[in-house]
Amino acid sequence: MQRQMKDQIDKIIYEAEQFVINTIDQLEYYKIRFLVKKGLVNQLFIDFKDLASEEKKILGKELNILKSKVEELYNNAEVELRSAQSVKEEINPLPGYYSEAGSRHAISVIIDEMTLIFERLGFSVASGPEIEDDWHNFSALNFPDNHPARDMQDTFFVAEDRSLRTHTSSVQVRLMEEGNLPIRSIMPGRVYRNEAISARSNCFFHQVEGLYIDKGVSFSDLKQTLYNFVQEFFGSDTRVRFRASYFPFTEPSAEMDIYLGLESESDYKLTKGTGWLEILGCGMVDPNVLENCKIDTTIYSGFAFGLGVDRMAMLKFGVKDLRTFFNGDKRFLEQFSSL
Ligand code: DAH
Repeated sequence: MQRQMKDQIDKIIYEAEQFVINTIDQLEYYKIRFLVKKGLVNQLFIDFKDLASEEKKILGKELNILKSKVEELYNNAEVELRSAQSVKEEINPLPGYYSEAGSRHAISVIIDEMTLIFERLGFSVASGPEIEDDWHNFSALNFPDNHPARDMQDTFFVAEDRSLRTHTSSVQVRLMEEGNLPIRSIMPGRVYRNEAISARSNCFFHQVEGLYIDKGVSFSDLKQTLYNFVQEFFGSDTRVRFRASYFPFTEPSAEMDIYLGLESESDYKLTKGTGWLEILGCGMVDPNVLENCKIDTTIYSGFAFGLGVDRMAMLKFGVKDLRTFFNGDKRFLEQFSSL
């Protein structure tokens, strides 16, 4: 009798352990098989009553272990099933979220591309405020008091001595004033001018300013840097030319053109029939500017340049009207999402 009951206990434990409980129904079957009044465990307790007291001593313990084991399996399975179900309930009724993926703006794509090229040439990246004072935007850059660029027609004034910067050259001044020489930086950013809006000009646009100040910097360094840039950006067979020009803050000053040719009507328009397109202004930093920024001109010299970004973007992407970059048409903007 004792032997028989011991075997039964082992069998029930084995069966309970093997019992698969993945659903509420299976949990219920388990309960019915093992735990209800007429279940296997209780049946053993009934049989137990008929044992001799010697046998009871030995098997009582075993029976209690069986009971708690079978109950434990049940409780664990129940907890697991309920929590899995509540997670399901939490997730199921919620509608899916739709999040729109943004795309980079064409102008940012171009600025990033330009930045990468200059970084390879050893330039770091700096930035400055878009609202500037007269000193940084004009005076320190050697603009005479009566210079037309200071005129209300060109400059958006924000307050008495505050305007939206008309060029990124203001950031040059800030960098030089910090006085950490040598400087080899580019300064990308948005600039503002009170100009009539058309396919080719806007009241705001973007520039990448460049500044290199060190001992013994020469005009040939400037030319080589810009040649290098153009070949990387537009391709190694790009023709360029420098034309003498004037800027208050550089001496000598130049403008650089690239050759587009005259193959299409838009080439004619863009280059005013010459085939050449101006893409930047540049020059050796005027000693007056260095002195305004407390840089010793007997030791240091430098070059600067200012590239027009929007025009580059028009060229690269074949966009004819500048305004399409900024009128927020997603069908246009999404074309740059993979760049
Ligand atoms: N700031 C000039 C402009 O907006 C562009 C420029 C010309 C920048 C010559 C320079 C430079 O740094 O050297 O028209």
